Amino acid sequence: MEEVWGSIVEAARGLEGSPLGAFMRRSPMAYPAANLVHLAGLVMLLGGIGALDLRVLGLGRAVPLSALSRYLTPFGLIGIAFSLISGGFMFAADAGALINSRMFQAKMAILVVGLLNAVAFRGLFGDPGGEPSFGARAMAGVSLLSWIAVAALGRLLGYL
Ligand code: HEM
Repeated sequence: MEEVWGSIVEAARGLEGSPLGAFMRRSPMAYPAANLVHLAGLVMLLGGIGALDLRVLGLGRAVPLSALSRYLTPFGLIGIAFSLISGGFMFAADAGALINSRMFQAKMAILVVGLLNAVAFRGLFGDPGGEPSFGARAMAGVSLLSWIAVAALGRLLGYL
């Protein structure tokens, strides 16, 4: 286990020392641009998946769930892609310190929970229709909490 962690830390230091890491620190535009993409990703993620989670949890019952799901899911997916890619770029600037931060580790762990929960939800319910079961609602709750926690920990990282 310690060996695996050692190689993860090594890889993070390698990324920080790489041309990408140097570029993210040196360029006056690169980090702010990645940060904006990161925030756009968060907005699409919570605006898409977060709004759908609330509907699955029982809010806005007048809106047909399966149509809402088909409409909002692409926004959520683009939001996740934006967040992951831009997050990787920002991480490269300071990877050696971030990888050892408990807050960053917690953010990554909860991110994995959110992603696995989303994949499992789609596998089990597809584009949900009708009135969602207790299981679907529980997973929507996990989804909402995990994305909010990932976003909050991301913001708090700035106060490290
Ligand atoms: C769905 C996924 C993610 C969400 C919702 C998210 C959310 C956030 C938010 C809200 C911020 C604060 C931005 C600001 O204050 O301007 C942030 C910062 C950050 N995130 Fe993420 N993030 C995600 C994924 C990732 C990933 C995968 C990585 C790295 C591999 C990452 C690395 C960072 C870094 C390095 C910062 C800047 C921290 C600082 O201010 O020093 N994020 N994130």
